[in-house]
Amino acid sequence: VPQELVDRHGRTVRDLRLSITDRCNLRCTYCMPAQGLEWLPTPSLLTTSELARLGRLAVERLGVERIRITGGEPLLRRDLEEIVSALAALRTPAGRRPDIALTTNGLGLERRAQGLRRAGLARVNVSVDSLDPEDYAAITRRHRLNDVLAGIAGAQEAGLSPIKINAVAMPGAMARRAPELLRQCLRRGWQLRFIEHMPLGPRETWRPQDVVGAAQILQALREAGFELSEAGRPDRRPAALWRVAEGADHPAGSVGIIASVTAPFCGDCDRTRITADGRLMTCLFSSTETDLRTPMRQGADDDALIRIWAGATWLKPLAHGTDAPGAEDSGFARPGRTMSAIGG
Ligand code: GTP
Ligand code: 5AD
Ligand code: SF4
Repeated sequence: VPQELVDRHGRTVRDLRLSITDRCNLRCTYCMPAQGLEWLPTPSLLTTSELARLGRLAVERLGVERIRITGGEPLLRRDLEEIVSALAALRTPAGRRPDIALTTNGLGLERRAQGLRRAGLARVNVSVDSLDPEDYAAITRRHRLNDVLAGIAGAQEAGLSPIKINAVAMPGAMARRAPELLRQCLRRGWQLRFIEHMPLGPRETWRPQDVVGAAQILQALREAGFELSEAGRPDRRPAALWRVAEGADHPAGSVGIIASVTAPFCGDCDRTRITADGRLMTCLFSSTETDLRTPMRQGADDDALIRIWAGATWLKPLAHGTDAPGAEDSGFARPGRTMSAIGG
């Protein structure tokens, strides 16, 4: 029985992303149409114990060291605390506890941060595309910025740290939005990361020529007066970090850029993903999905599930191809689902 998840290109999985719901209470324009999507029926979602079982196999048997819970919006599941405690109780063969993190839009976090912390959650990444209430509402189609800010405050109070903020770099508003967002995040001690827009939302919302790339983001920040110096991409994470020197209206800190399109990091990718309905996706962009739920529900034993997981991982694609010239026309493989169903 395999003891690690490796692929034929020589990469080894250390990081598991578990999507626990495809639903969301926001409607970010780059992610979903205003009316939402057709949600997965509840019985098709992995249960608390199914999620715990996959987490256990990953951590105890397959070399996974970090688990990130994603959605849709994971706070929409009432059993999130239970899921976190089950995962936090796991130990790697070397006796280490896995790093458990959550990617969330922050709605409802204020009430639940303490409980999540007690359950064993280490940290949160919160999506905040703008700190201007009107701008935020235009992007997310909901007037909820105050709730999000309360959520982040709650997370800080509960000791979830560091707080990372995700902002998708959308064309048009970038030059105006980015500097103000960075200034505010530096002042509040949050680590901001700009994310290049990937073709994973509604089909007509992405064109390669519209992608605001890392170079443009850095330029907009420099033109606004930020002094930036390169600090590398630590630990095979997606975000390349830049040190920000102290300025007149902000302390020193750092800013990250997740350049999935203009500088893909597929070459040292260490991730595996499971969708809310129990499909294994070896890459955010894989067009093949491997069903783990059906075998689990038909009584497959641990070794059988591990063989399926490892077999599919072997075939993990080398790269996503959205960075190829004329990507949209050159026919790179778009996954069959949108971001909210894969978990980012
Ligand atoms: P940490 O570095 O552990 O804090 O997490 P993270 O930045 O990987 O997680 P988060 O869920 O906050 O993801 C931020 C953005 O990075 C999202 O837009 C993700 O879709 C993107 N991202 C995460 N993993 C990958 C990946 O494997 N490939 C690509 N292309 N993008 C990714
Ligand atoms: N491209 C890049 N990032 C995206 N996100 C959602 N859709 C996209 C996309 N098409 C971001 C969310 C969240 C993170 C998990 O992924 O804003 O911060
Ligand atoms: Fe929801 Fe996240 Fe999609 Fe926005 S980006 S609609 S918060 S899943």
